[in-house]
Amino acid sequence: MRLFITGGAGFIGSNFIRHILSEHRGHHIVNFDKLTYAGNLENLSDLADDSNYSFVKGDICDRSAVDDAITGADAVINFAAESHVDRSIERATEFITTNVSGTQTLLDAARAARVSRFLQISTDEVMGSCAEGEYFTEDSPLCPNSPYAASKTAAEHFVRAAHVTFGLDVVTTRASNNYGPFQFPEKLIPLMISNALEDKKLPVYGDGLNTRDWLYVEDCCRAIDLVLHKGESGTVYNIGSRAEKTNLDVVRTLLDLVGKPHSLITFVTDRLGHDRRYATDPTRIETEFGWSPRETFESGIAKTVSWYRENSSWVERARSGDYREYYERMYGNR
Ligand code: NAD
Ligand code: DAU
Repeated sequence: MRLFITGGAGFIGSNFIRHILSEHRGHHIVNFDKLTYAGNLENLSDLADDSNYSFVKGDICDRSAVDDAITGADAVINFAAESHVDRSIERATEFITTNVSGTQTLLDAARAARVSRFLQISTDEVMGSCAEGEYFTEDSPLCPNSPYAASKTAAEHFVRAAHVTFGLDVVTTRASNNYGPFQFPEKLIPLMISNALEDKKLPVYGDGLNTRDWLYVEDCCRAIDLVLHKGESGTVYNIGSRAEKTNLDVVRTLLDLVGKPHSLITFVTDRLGHDRRYATDPTRIETEFGWSPRETFESGIAKTVSWYRENSSWVERARSGDYREYYERMYGNR
């Protein structure tokens, strides 16, 4: 099978490429990535000599570049996105361009190239904040609250429309919060681990009681693999690990693992429109494919802390340049 993977130099995409190449030796991968601030070829440096893997630098909004690179692909897996909620609150333009227009460009190119399957990597955030005691299923109403979530919701609608209007074979995943190796240190877990290792303050938004369902990235990649190979066309699949934690619980666990005092926690001004709780019901993927997460939060977070400890130079390089300005803008006067 020939896979055209977009955004494969980012966090989940790079873990997915490594997963596919180790689990499906007959598969060939073209990784098509613009290399934004979040894309890092270092995430895939161990695959440079793999004859089943090649990289093309390109933008999913550039139809002719996509047409050139997609030729011969059996399936498209669209990870490419602007993915950070705080950045979307600062400025939404790139989120609309890449997440919405870019997805439509890919759908058009996939149809023209007669690709057999289009897998859209969406997010549980399209359903918005979930009331205490309830769980969102794949049929819950879409109610995105941040510009990021709104752009991912719009993309889902265009994917669905391509299925209904043109009969394109599409499947969509909605994963909960991923964590693990190679996550850019603007997101909660890598940011807090990196700060703790350097004895910096840990900026917790609001009261710290917002909850997220934490999913180890390798478990997410196994689920995406199953949806790619076994998913029913036109269907959405939630991916969640039933591991809800408050942000405060997460941060305290990280500090204990790193061996630093809880006094490093500092409460800062809340995120605008901050979703209180994400909680999806993964019953469909559990019952249809027998998927369940292999990592508990405790085992996954211990692995993640070890990885960040052992890869401080990766973090240092990711945090250089533009990231320093971003950090100052986001947290300087908060
Ligand atoms: P990331 O920000 O780490 O990586 C995004 C990648 O997309 C980068 O390599 C970047 O260079 C590339 N990219 C951005 N714009 C592009 C463009 N115009 N053309 C080509 N490449 C472009 O993101 P991530 O956390 O790995 O998320 C991957 C996907 O999974 C996203 O679609 C995101 O919405 C979705 N998702 C993420 C999570 C999570 O917890 N991280 C959970 C659910 C869904
Ligand atoms: O649910 C899936 C989504 O998870 C993905 O679609 C997004 O791409 C991904 O970024 C993530 O979104 P969140 O907004 O939930 O993740 P983030 O790591 O930014 O924040 C997690 C929680 O931690 C959230 O409640 C905000 C809080 N937070 C975050 C940061 C960066 C803090 O308290 N302090 C921080 O410095």
